[in-house]
Amino acid sequence: MPNWVIVGTQWGDEGKGKVVDLLTEKADIIARPQGGANAGHTVVIGDNLFILHLIPTGILHPHKICIIGNGMVIDLEQLFFEIADLKKRGIDVKNRLFISENAHLVMPYHKTIERLEEESKGRNKVGTTGKGIGPAYRDKIGRCGIRLRDILYPEVFKKKVESNLKNNSHLFRKLKRGEFSSLKTESGVILKYKKQVLSLMADVSLILNEAIRNGKSVLFEGAQGAMLDIDHGTYPYCTSSNVSAGGACTGTGVGPTLIDEVIGVVKTYTTRVGNGPFPTEFDDGLCEAIREKGKEFGATTGRPRRCGWLDLVLLKYSVRVNGITKIALTKLDVLDDLGKIKVCITYKYKSKTIENFTNDLKFLENCTPVYKEIDGWKTSTHGMTKYENLPQRAKDYINFISQQLGVKVMLISTGCKRNETILI
Ligand code: GDP
Ligand code: IMO
Ligand code: MG
Repeated sequence: MPNWVIVGTQWGDEGKGKVVDLLTEKADIIARPQGGANAGHTVVIGDNLFILHLIPTGILHPHKICIIGNGMVIDLEQLFFEIADLKKRGIDVKNRLFISENAHLVMPYHKTIERLEEESKGRNKVGTTGKGIGPAYRDKIGRCGIRLRDILYPEVFKKKVESNLKNNSHLFRKLKRGEFSSLKTESGVILKYKKQVLSLMADVSLILNEAIRNGKSVLFEGAQGAMLDIDHGTYPYCTSSNVSAGGACTGTGVGPTLIDEVIGVVKTYTTRVGNGPFPTEFDDGLCEAIREKGKEFGATTGRPRRCGWLDLVLLKYSVRVNGITKIALTKLDVLDDLGKIKVCITYKYKSKTIENFTNDLKFLENCTPVYKEIDGWKTSTHGMTKYENLPQRAKDYINFISQQLGVKVMLISTGCKRNETILI
């Protein structure tokens, strides 16, 4: 397999974990370029359920090398919790997991600040995962972030932490009276991992480029979805990293000329966790039914996911900003019981027909989706592994999506397990 980027095309939770797990068999290295512990990637192997937050999903395959790229923000407590949990379940990361020295750290004060900022926004809060992602990326862009390599120099590390605590104390005072974090607490939490971190730190750009030069293939495991991208998503209701395919290059130090395919993971309907516009959101009745059938509860926070119809205007935009070359279509089985299925084909705004998605908040809050309604197939597709066995109406639905997006479907997922998949 050549070098593939896997991206979420919607608001995350499209089933990237399952798709990456399937494709990992054909790859040598699996690299996460962006995001942090806000991600929750689910893989079901037999009766065992795994949810990966920071560590690439590829770790579940023995002998595969996994990389945490420079574009990620790392919460060390979460990382070592995840490593220990995997170990308990018989999976050893030794000599298989490498972390970029340039990845930034999520400090405990990032999480405190995020919580207070969200509280202060009231109704306008983003509805973040509370993992300190936004404040950590803010420090990175503000050039005062703390990188993993800073742990090598405890004195420099402590100076940086001290300066950041000082610079954030006014914000803390404004938001809440009381005790802000101390240098001792912050550096204690991080520096206790120094020895363990040293064995994981590496120049990941070098590892990846040398591997590619030697004919190995890399799978880039995107987190979140393009609609949560800091530039192309529904700003400010988004995350703080470049989720879209370009982030795979900047987040690992691999040039765009080395990427062969961009696989867009598309869920057959749409979900969103947290606040922000969602033009095709269901009204309550249908939302409950789909949420139940699709088990649409956050893999990281457990929050119920908002659910809605498939939105082709949004997906065409996602195909464009990611340069998607193939589609992995997931959760077909969740639509099995529906008599009628709607697909949004354009929007109406101020009595005009709009064909191109735009991430203008006012527009997205006030546009009306225009739907094409099709008949459902009303038979179980759950667990199917052969395209020819699908009901004709399910095939029509899949073909309509593929033809509208101008991209071929490479696999269809019909259940959460590895083998519940149709490979095309
Ligand atoms: P990710 O963040 O994109 O990796 O997705 P999540 O793991 O957060 O959420 C996807 C959920 O759908 C998980 O519970 C998966 O086990 C489940 N899932 C994935 N593919 C399918 C499928 O084809 N059918 C069904 N019913 N569940 C699926
Ligand atoms: P995976 O990789 C779904 C959402 C949060 C919130 C917004 C910002 O599992 O698809 P953040 O904590 O990143 O600052 O929150 O982004 N969000 C996700 N939604 N899946 C995810 O990851 C998400 N990661 C962040 O709910 O709306
Ligand atoms: Mg998820």
